[in-house]
Amino acid sequence: MVRTQTGSYPVFVGKNLRNKAADLLNGGYSAYYIITDSRVAPLYLADLEQNLKEKPIYHFIVPAGEQSKNLALYEQIITDMLEKKQYDRGCCVIALGGGVVGDLAGFVAATFLRGVAFIQMPTTLLAHDSTSAGKWGLITPLEKKNLIGAFYPPKAVIYDTAALETLPLRELQSGFVELVKHSFIDSAAFYEQLKAAIPDQKALTAEAVSPFLLRGIGVKAAIVERDEHESGLRTHLNLGHTLGHAIEKEAGFGALTHGEGVAIGILFAMQLSEAYYGVKLPVQEVREWFAKLGLPTGSSSRARAGSTCQANEVR
Ligand SMILES: NC(=O)c1ccc[n+]([C@@H]2O[C@H](COP(=O)([O-])OP(=O)(O)OC[C@H]3O[C@@H](n4cnc5c(N)ncnc54)[C@H](O)[C@@H]3O)[C@@H](O)[C@H]2O)c1
Ligand SMILES: [Zn+2]
Repeated sequence: MVRTQTGSYPVFVGKNLRNKAADLLNGGYSAYYIITDSRVAPLYLADLEQNLKEKPIYHFIVPAGEQSKNLALYEQIITDMLEKKQYDRGCCVIALGGGVVGDLAGFVAATFLRGVAFIQMPTTLLAHDSTSAGKWGLITPLEKKNLIGAFYPPKAVIYDTAALETLPLRELQSGFVELVKHSFIDSAAFYEQLKAAIPDQKALTAEAVSPFLLRGIGVKAAIVERDEHESGLRTHLNLGHTLGHAIEKEAGFGALTHGEGVAIGILFAMQLSEAYYGVKLPVQEVREWFAKLGLPTGSSSRARAGSTCQANEVR
């Protein structure tokens, strides 16, 4: 369970859960509206619709990629929902996809008829980071992220780990960085377990990461529960994101994945902490681990060939 100021919601994690969605949701909604993207739809949409077919159900497929978190698509989706005339306040919006679809669908659910039920069905590893976030945002015409959005917890999260098996390696690597971040925030023991289980790129598989999902979600949930609206403690979750976001933006969104930017940002933050607070941190150990995972480290031995971004060492 994830607890928020407005209630709590269950997080189900398991293999092939898309085929059990109706049971998990207890059939409690008048109609379903699934928002998904053009890569995920051919893989998982038919199974989910088959499973939920007892109730009226429609879907909207957006182009895969970051650019789909925009106001024009948002307007198309709510217009489509209104035109279908099936959707009252008892309906439910489902996000089937990664963080992009999650942000878009979460915002639709938060605002359609002033708020209808929202179910998140993440299909990427990175999206474990948003399952307990309960906040959703679009990209505005000024290219700024998250200026338009909502704090709006889902009614449930259904995480089908089978979906991670079709995720391209680079997306798996990107999402893994957020899991590493959660281990850093949690404890040395979590970090050591993660490192031992997944020492390098070869070991980075859906099967290997799945057992850690709930724990990663739990780390974030515990912080969000105490500081839902980002007044202090929640900034811990931004570890690696200050420089990470800047690099991502400078390289041009899409040139570097979010996790790749954060990997460089985490190393930077560790080095900065050493210099500023005089503490000793395992910077070299983490850098070597990231390199073995095929992640960029910000040093001249960058693993990601072809990227346009160069980050300088702190010292
Ligand atoms: N709301 C929040 O709290 C929060 C937290 C973290 C990230 N985010 C947002 O999430 C986005 C990044 O998330 P993401 O990495 O999941 O991006 P994404 O949704 O763009 O997915 C990455 C790519 O993988 C494809 N894909 C998704 N699932 C797949 C599967 N099972 N098999 C094959 N391909 C699949 C997608 O089509 C896409 O091309 C960013 O926009 C970020 O701002 C939001
Ligand atoms: Zn992040």
